[in-house]
Amino acid sequence: MILTVATAPFEGQKPGTSGLRKKVTVFREPHYAENFIQSIFDSLEGYEGQTLVIGGDGRYYNADVIQTAIRMAAASGFGRVMVGQNGLLSTPAASHLIRKYKAFGGIILSASHNPGGPDGDFGIKYNAGNGGPAPEKLTDAIYARTKAITTYRITTSPDIALGRIGETRLGSMVVQVVDPVADYAQLMQALFDFDAIRDLIASGFTMKFDAMGAITGPYAQRILEGMLGFPAGTVMNGIPLPDFGGHHPDPNLVHAKELVDIVMPPGGPDFGAASDGDGDRNLIIGRGMYVTPSDSLAILAANATLTPGYAKGLAGIARSMPTSCAADRVAEKLGIGAYETPTGWKFFGNLLDAGKATLCGEESFGTGSNHVREKDGLWAVLMWLNVLAKRRQSVAEIVTAHWREYGRNYYSRHDYEEVDAEAANGLMKALREQLPSLVGQHGIAMADDFSFDDPVDGSRTTHQGIRLIFADGSRIIYRLSGTGTAGATLRVYIERYEPDASRHAIETQAALADLIALSRALAGIEARTGRAAPTVIT
Ligand code: G1P
Ligand code: ZN
Repeated sequence: MILTVATAPFEGQKPGTSGLRKKVTVFREPHYAENFIQSIFDSLEGYEGQTLVIGGDGRYYNADVIQTAIRMAAASGFGRVMVGQNGLLSTPAASHLIRKYKAFGGIILSASHNPGGPDGDFGIKYNAGNGGPAPEKLTDAIYARTKAITTYRITTSPDIALGRIGETRLGSMVVQVVDPVADYAQLMQALFDFDAIRDLIASGFTMKFDAMGAITGPYAQRILEGMLGFPAGTVMNGIPLPDFGGHHPDPNLVHAKELVDIVMPPGGPDFGAASDGDGDRNLIIGRGMYVTPSDSLAILAANATLTPGYAKGLAGIARSMPTSCAADRVAEKLGIGAYETPTGWKFFGNLLDAGKATLCGEESFGTGSNHVREKDGLWAVLMWLNVLAKRRQSVAEIVTAHWREYGRNYYSRHDYEEVDAEAANGLMKALREQLPSLVGQHGIAMADDFSFDDPVDGSRTTHQGIRLIFADGSRIIYRLSGTGTAGATLRVYIERYEPDASRHAIETQAALADLIALSRALAGIEARTGRAAPTVIT
């Protein structure tokens, strides 16, 4: 039976950089998730009888909302839902399923790298038929709908068993439970030279992959240990848990410390990698060498033709504006397009769909390509393995050789988390007002608030971050996070280009010290937020 339930709008159901993210306690308020899901359906057209992909990263509350979403899809007239076994799907795997099976779209339950558990975060996002995050136009429509919603529709049916692969019916809708890994693993096998990687392993190459108690455990176990033959135990924290085993599943040097401490010292494995809560981010390290995500994008682009999936070369490279300019130098040398977009993967969608960009990346540990429409953690790990298998050099050798050829973009991001929202907005406003007078001071050649004109659909997105660009190409960028769930997070991105190879071995924070001091002084960070230092440095 289909119920029409009376409801009233909740404030603040505005999708951020990547869907709607709130505390679990907020999502548990009666009707909260239902309102948002109904607002998504109400903003779509022509889905009757079509397929909807549903899955999540397994975090706390995933199991409840999966059932709600299935019932609501049935009540709204979808013909089929394709659900990952036990309600699990990594974000890139969900994107692939949408594309491969020509689904109308998908609902992904995830708050990405944010902590999980009853006091942690939860999230819901909608991906469109191209497999990518809903474009701005659609998220605006969804938000408008959340403010006007009066009813939602849901079936009264009992919970669907999601443990077994196969099909059942819910009224006139088919519920298809699928193996969450199989299709994705097949795609990876088509893109990368698994035989070359097996040869590398046979030569004694070792690695450690940290799934951080999150969704990539089953994917990494099946692909790295099962298909490629890395020894059992190569994947650590491989069982997805509702609270990620207490991990903060954000693969950076701070939160993936357990892995870093294993891989960095002499005698550690040759290669280390980690992924985040929903499997779209990646951390790459080699013995004694951390690879910044910005460098990783540039290096993968420069070596792409060593892999079967990209053997014909790249159409172009896209990076988010705060990501370092390292990839631009590779694009220039290859004679291909270089694109600079606002923060957030959704801005790559048009470039990928139009065939203008092949590889994309963000400084926030996101790398990906046109194989799906999300960033993809394991994809980046496998591409690195393929490059390592072909070059037979260490990670450190590959990175330093890259710097010698292209120069090094010293780069760091400083996050000031959970600062007072009003103070953060005041800081940004004051900076914006200062922009014209900053040019000419401290070697600043250009200062603006970044706007993006989409070269494919002509749309314009404004206020995407304050940029201070120096005459020598150095940059300081300020923006406020769009994914946080408490207070505001100020992100400051600092970059300096160093062409001279004899100066490539300086510790990053030391190499950037004068710019870091300037970034704090110009914005008056301590005076305005009370913070003398950032909470996280990556
Ligand atoms: C952060 C990252 C951004 C990424 C997003 C979703 O967004 O900075 O690059 O696309 O998470 O993973 P922010 O919190 O900065 O808005
Ligand atoms: Zn993520």
